[in-house]
Amino acid sequence: MKALVLSGGSGTRLRPFTYSMPKQLIPIANRPVLEHVLQNIREIGVTEIGVIVGDRRPAIEAVLGDGSRLGVQITYIDQEQPLGLAHCVSLAREFLGEDDFVMYLGDNMLPGGVVAIAEDFRDRRPAAQVVVYKVADPRAFGVAEVAADGTVLRLVEKPQQPRTDLALIGVYFFTPAIHKAVAEIEPSARGELEITDAIQWLVSAGEQVGASEYHGYWKDTGRVEDILDCNRELLNGLVGSVQGEVDADSVLIGNVLIEPGARVVRSRIEGPAVVGAGSLIEDSFVGPYASIGKDCVLHSTHVDYSIALDGATVSRVSGVHGSLIGRSAAVTGVHSATRHHRLVVGDHTQVEVAA
Ligand code: TTP
Repeated sequence: MKALVLSGGSGTRLRPFTYSMPKQLIPIANRPVLEHVLQNIREIGVTEIGVIVGDRRPAIEAVLGDGSRLGVQITYIDQEQPLGLAHCVSLAREFLGEDDFVMYLGDNMLPGGVVAIAEDFRDRRPAAQVVVYKVADPRAFGVAEVAADGTVLRLVEKPQQPRTDLALIGVYFFTPAIHKAVAEIEPSARGELEITDAIQWLVSAGEQVGASEYHGYWKDTGRVEDILDCNRELLNGLVGSVQGEVDADSVLIGNVLIEPGARVVRSRIEGPAVVGAGSLIEDSFVGPYASIGKDCVLHSTHVDYSIALDGATVSRVSGVHGSLIGRSAAVTGVHSATRHHRLVVGDHTQVEVAA
């Protein structure tokens, strides 16, 4: 079996971050989403991985390389425009050959892994096996009608009146039967080749299509709120350890990971929290649920339930919460008699300040 990881797309919901980096490289618990994805694929014993990339290919290649660091072999496949998930399958036709494969959206996090679902697919080998998850509002998803034995009866993409609450989430297992379906479908109203339509084509053609319900934690990390929530979930499983320096005036409570070369000076860190390599935390309070990237500086600051990407600086700010701070961004508190805010804020940025 091979794997196809989709890491193109436009990432509009994650602007401004996606102006300068692909969303699949946003760190969660200080590791890019894509590394978590590749680890899950490795866990099901698949090492030949095709990665679909758009114009952010250089950044993705710089982090994943040929995959050997993660125990896999990566083949990069270019997609000039994000023309849909089924379009990605057609671009990967040569790479996939006649093998079965798992298709994994590069921004989806399933920390519980998909080992049991992969085993089920390998045992029964239906033409396609989708992963479904009960959601409160299925209208934004592909929605499945599933028989009691797990057979998919019908799939509809983003229905206005969903007939079930079972949404398709970002992992799919396919035999090569999917290629004919992908070749037969037409672009949808939004101009994309929809994988839901291709799978429905298989159902209509009388092919066996199964659904496995995923019961663990799942997040599509397409929005800032989801990234922070997912960071909290992963930090709950953090194993604390001090690999950097913590001075005698600092206190660490709970599971705290201080990476090599990081320094904690006169500060209190309440886990779960991680401080990346080379960062300096001085006269500050960090955590719970804070992930501080590499080479950050936090000075006289209180940060919790937040992520700071590499090289970020936060000085003299007392209540940073629910925040995602970009690479080398600086957030500074100033003592000002007029109590004004000075904001240099990029396009599509969201800032909330205490009124
Ligand atoms: P989406 O999150 O649905 O699309 P997007 O990246 O365009 O995001 P937004 O809605 O915020 O603009 O895509 C799911 C995953 O599949 C994501 O990892 C990007 C990837 N993808 C491709 O690689 N090629 C494509 O043509 C599409 C549509 C998505």
